[in-house]
Amino acid sequence: MRLEGKVAVITGGGSGIGAATAEAFTREGARVVIADIDAAAGESVAKALRAAGGTIDFLEADASGQADLERVIGFATSTHGRLDVLHNNHVSFEAGRIGDLTWDGLRRSLDVGLVSYWYATKLALEPMLAQGRGSIVNTASVSGLAGDFGLGAYNMLKAGVVNLSRVTGIEYARKGVRCNAVCPGPIGTPPIDRLHDAAPATWEAIREAIPMGRYGRAEEIAAAVLFLASDESSFVTGTHLVADGGLWAHSGMPPIGGLGPDF
Ligand SMILES: NC(=O)c1ccc[n+]([C@@H]2O[C@H](COP(=O)([O-])OP(=O)(O)OC[C@H]3O[C@@H](n4cnc5c(N)ncnc54)[C@H](O)[C@@H]3O)[C@@H](O)[C@H]2O)c1
Repeated sequence: MRLEGKVAVITGGGSGIGAATAEAFTREGARVVIADIDAAAGESVAKALRAAGGTIDFLEADASGQADLERVIGFATSTHGRLDVLHNNHVSFEAGRIGDLTWDGLRRSLDVGLVSYWYATKLALEPMLAQGRGSIVNTASVSGLAGDFGLGAYNMLKAGVVNLSRVTGIEYARKGVRCNAVCPGPIGTPPIDRLHDAAPATWEAIREAIPMGRYGRAEEIAAAVLFLASDESSFVTGTHLVADGGLWAHSGMPPIGGLGPDF
């Protein structure tokens, strides 16, 4: 098993990519602690994975709060005596054009989506440096690599997550701790499903803009996170892995002479 004997913390593990990662990690032998602000969702993921034979605990926590993050990392290290993997994954943010964002909304977005990733990283570094090994995997996005209309706060915080991953990767490279980001494109998780249902034409156009012609599945991102978390990526640090069906590779130009992806 690829994470045998390892201990992992996943924030936002109650749904979508975090829940799929919890499934992949427990399947591969890790002892997992998931934290989520949504108690019912987190409990239900933990219950299902425990029934499937996994070792997993759920903690209700607001991963954007200092005290809650300290409680989550502290629980993992005191319960299991070590911490090998941190997957920072939760998010919430204010939507709107740059000129319409609010002071409080943007600051809250950056606190939840970026500052808390840094703080969880800082907390995880202590046991990881003592062990001389560890892997931190941050969920960024292709939205951290380019801009999206109306998602400026998200673009800013995810760009920060990409660069947090770089600097953490280089600073601790000689201490056995690696740090990388995964950059998903649109993935069929509950928030995207809800947006699709609210504006099907828009989301069909987004699907069509993806060279593969489909959204990704949470399991496909969990597979990328698993690779970065495991020793299979032992020479990979300070970088980002794009998993987006080809979206970010496209310049945005419409097909010339009808030579589009369908043929
Ligand atoms: N779904 C996509 O298309 C997509 C694309 C690129 C990046 N991402 C990123 O993937 C990550 C997971 O997204 P998802 O689509 O799986 O969403 P999701 O809503 O299915 O899961 C996110 C989970 O995070 C939890 N959460 C939110 N705020 C929290 C907080 N303060 N503390 C603890 N838990 C909190 C939610 O309760 C939820 O269970 C996010 O960072 C998101 O930006 C998603």
